[in-house]
Amino acid sequence: MKHILMDLPFDENALEPYISSETLQYHHGKHHAAYINNLNKLIEDTDYANMNLEEIILSADGGVFNNAAQVYNHNFYFYGMTHKTSEPSEALVTLLDRDFGSVEAFKKVFLKTAAGLFGSGWVWLSINDTGNLVLESFSNAGNPLLSKHTPLLTCDVWEHAYYVDYRNARPKYLEKWWGLINWDFVSGNLDLFTNNHDNMADLCHKDDEICDYVDSI
Ligand code: FE2
Repeated sequence: MKHILMDLPFDENALEPYISSETLQYHHGKHHAAYINNLNKLIEDTDYANMNLEEIILSADGGVFNNAAQVYNHNFYFYGMTHKTSEPSEALVTLLDRDFGSVEAFKKVFLKTAAGLFGSGWVWLSINDTGNLVLESFSNAGNPLLSKHTPLLTCDVWEHAYYVDYRNARPKYLEKWWGLINWDFVSGNLDLFTNNHDNMADLCHKDDEICDYVDSI
């Protein structure tokens, strides 16, 4: 399977003045594209060539893992931003209130975690198999799939995400990035998780094997 660079879900200048078209030209057009090209070269004529991105991430290490995870993480990051106004769904707000105290409290701890992540990496909001929200940060190309969590939102804190616009002022980038979150995307990811679990619960009445699986998570 040849991996293809996603199109940005917005015009290259749509996030200005918070994230410039110059940043996106490099971030999407150079960095993201390089991870795609590296991945395609590394997996050629290997077992990974028949796997999708998530399967590669869960089974590879070294350069194959790093490039596959960076492709996945950047896809998630770019889909997670928009210039349009959006709000977290009622279901997401309910979970943020329950697990972080409030949306504002979540914002505070998410941005603090992102500002404090040493070096390059990613900060994620995920949900675990018991339906609890989890805030995680990972160095380099890390992501929640390895913890068997379902990702809902991510922020890229590699310097290439903000250096052109904010130089070394990562907290300023984070504050502006917060205003660009595509809450429809985040809420949609939560819906997918919830529907999958509801479907598994329905199947539980019909198939003992699935019932055992649902009981085990
Ligand atoms: Fe990046």
